Amino acid sequence: MNYRHQFHAGNFADIFKHSVLVILLDALSRKSAPWCYFDSHAGAGLYNLQSDESRRGGEAAGGICRLWPVRAAAPAPVAALCAAVAAVNPGLDHGALPRFYPGSPLVAAAMARASDRLVLAELQPEEAQLLRTHLRRDARAAVHLRDGYEMLKALTPPAERRGLVLIDPPFESPTEFAHMLQALRVMHGRWPEGVCALWYPLKDPPAVQRFERELLRLKLRRVLLAELRVAAPAAPGFNACGMALINPPWQCEHAIETTLGFLRDTLAPQAGSHRLRWLASAQA
Ligand SMILES: C[S@@+](CC[C@H](N)C(=O)[O-])C[C@H]1O[C@@H](n2cnc3c(N)ncnc32)[C@H](O)[C@@H]1O
Repeated sequence: MNYRHQFHAGNFADIFKHSVLVILLDALSRKSAPWCYFDSHAGAGLYNLQSDESRRGGEAAGGICRLWPVRAAAPAPVAALCAAVAAVNPGLDHGALPRFYPGSPLVAAAMARASDRLVLAELQPEEAQLLRTHLRRDARAAVHLRDGYEMLKALTPPAERRGLVLIDPPFESPTEFAHMLQALRVMHGRWPEGVCALWYPLKDPPAVQRFERELLRLKLRRVLLAELRVAAPAAPGFNACGMALINPPWQCEHAIETTLGFLRDTLAPQAGSHRLRWLASAQA
């Protein structure tokens, strides 16, 4: 596996994914009962945007660096994400851009209460070790050096019965959509009330259409699709991504719509677009 998230950290896709993550976890926190967060592809947890890899990738320029100067005007979920970014950049000068960007495990940790739990899988030993280091003082978090799909099979449903699964693979292989769907099928069978968020790139329209058709075949009751584009659909390169949200907590839709509109206007005011639609929306 060649993938290193360090090259991409803080890009538009991270901002989109982590903003939606904040919305889902915030909604789960409205009830006092604890939740459990599973992150099947957790990454290193914290990224130095001034590292050689980040500078070479240059992707944070179109993400957190564009968002940061306008954060005071951001809707609540994006403001909460920016607070998580501020927390990993202590002493940052008012006008300066952040040097560090948190990965999904640290964003989730920032949203978690004392009674909530984080269960995190990462397959690359160096990344898992970094993640352990960044979370070493957090007794709520467990880091597993193992295949994330296999972890979901082994550890769901959680004792809490409430919670969220983030599946955020590198999409280096054409079979990734199939792996995601298989993991979702198994997990949903054992934990039908669990919330699940699947992230995917919008690079290959036939593959995405197949994925949506396969999702429909799973006969899930509630599936919300969120998409963000930072360039016109025909533009070359990676500039669009989506998330399929299974069982999104009630009343998330409005927050996601507002957040995506803000991100589109902030990250791609000229050619950006967003879309939110129900693939399946059974009532009660
Ligand atoms: C897109 S990155 C994750 C980013 C992270 N979720 C975030 O938002 O900060 C994908 C990660 O999955 C890891 N990975 C790849 N295949 C995996 C597998 N089968 N199980 C667990 N981790 C895997 C990669 O090493 C990489 O760190």
